[in-house]
Amino acid sequence: MANNLNRSPLFYVGDKYKLLKEILPYFPKKIDRFIEPFTGGGSVFLNVDAKKHLLNDIDKNVYLLHAFLKKHSKKPNKFFKEVQKIIFEYNLSRSFQEDIIPAELKLKYKKTYYAKFNKDNFNKLKSDFNNSEKDNLYKFYVLLIYGFNRMIRFNRSGDYNLPVGNVDFNSNVVNALKSYFENVKKANIEINNLDYIDFLKKAKPTKKDFLYFDPPYLITFSEYNKLWNDKNEIDLIKTLDNLNKLGIRFAVSNVTHYKERENKIFKDWSKKYNVFQVKSNYISYHDNSIKIFNEVLITNYEY
Ligand SMILES: C[S@@+](CC[C@H](N)C(=O)[O-])C[C@H]1O[C@@H](n2cnc3c(N)ncnc32)[C@H](O)[C@@H]1O
Repeated sequence: MANNLNRSPLFYVGDKYKLLKEILPYFPKKIDRFIEPFTGGGSVFLNVDAKKHLLNDIDKNVYLLHAFLKKHSKKPNKFFKEVQKIIFEYNLSRSFQEDIIPAELKLKYKKTYYAKFNKDNFNKLKSDFNNSEKDNLYKFYVLLIYGFNRMIRFNRSGDYNLPVGNVDFNSNVVNALKSYFENVKKANIEINNLDYIDFLKKAKPTKKDFLYFDPPYLITFSEYNKLWNDKNEIDLIKTLDNLNKLGIRFAVSNVTHYKERENKIFKDWSKKYNVFQVKSNYISYHDNSIKIFNEVLITNYEY
């Protein structure tokens, strides 16, 4: 396990970055192929050594961003140059390089000055992207970085539709990109855009492989959890049982309790495997209160 953890430059909602220190110690020490059916932002694979990383996510945009960044891992300068061009063209704040936000604005809007400064120019970039440049992934990445909570959201007509966020292109973004490029360049990575069941049929896991599952959670609220229901949960645990029968090692994350909710299907199923508690405090964006939820990691192997 790397000493300095790599953060994904997708800053993905619900990513595992903050819990990696609790999860990674349970992973096998030697991994031939690391197979990740629900890759999301990629915080996990970026911190796992393996001969091959076989990745997948059903979300087309997540897939496109990984494929795009992977393509640039051998020419990071081109990526930084193109992105910088967009930031300058739209005169967006750029704290990684210089501070161009007027002092009066900072004084007037102490906690929201990034959003105030960038709003109009961000909206111009958003409408240019939506009107005629949806295949410009540099622009998509810039929207992601300056957008609300750095989420990825498109409406039914396929338009990116988040408002400006109170964030900008800062040194954390530059560092996350640099380490992504560095890691991906060295690794043997394949990324797929399939439903996880089709992906597993294609991957044909064996006993030498290790699979990490971080599926949508039945009882918490994220964009990608909305489409996940009891049937999906039952199919997932059947898939895991099948892997277990074949002697294939897996680890799976899930949330068993969230506020008054309980994921009974998963909790009951997990009892036949190793259950590790991965507790974490969570600050609610709605009312700033701290809620406790119970997250677990289930494994089917001795380590
Ligand atoms: C909890 S997130 C994974 C987060 C990831 N571990 C990280 O650190 O960023 C779950 C992911 O599963 C993807 N997903 C949802 N349903 C899927 C399916 N049927 N097949 C493959 N991926 C799916 C979502 O798009 C989402 O990115």
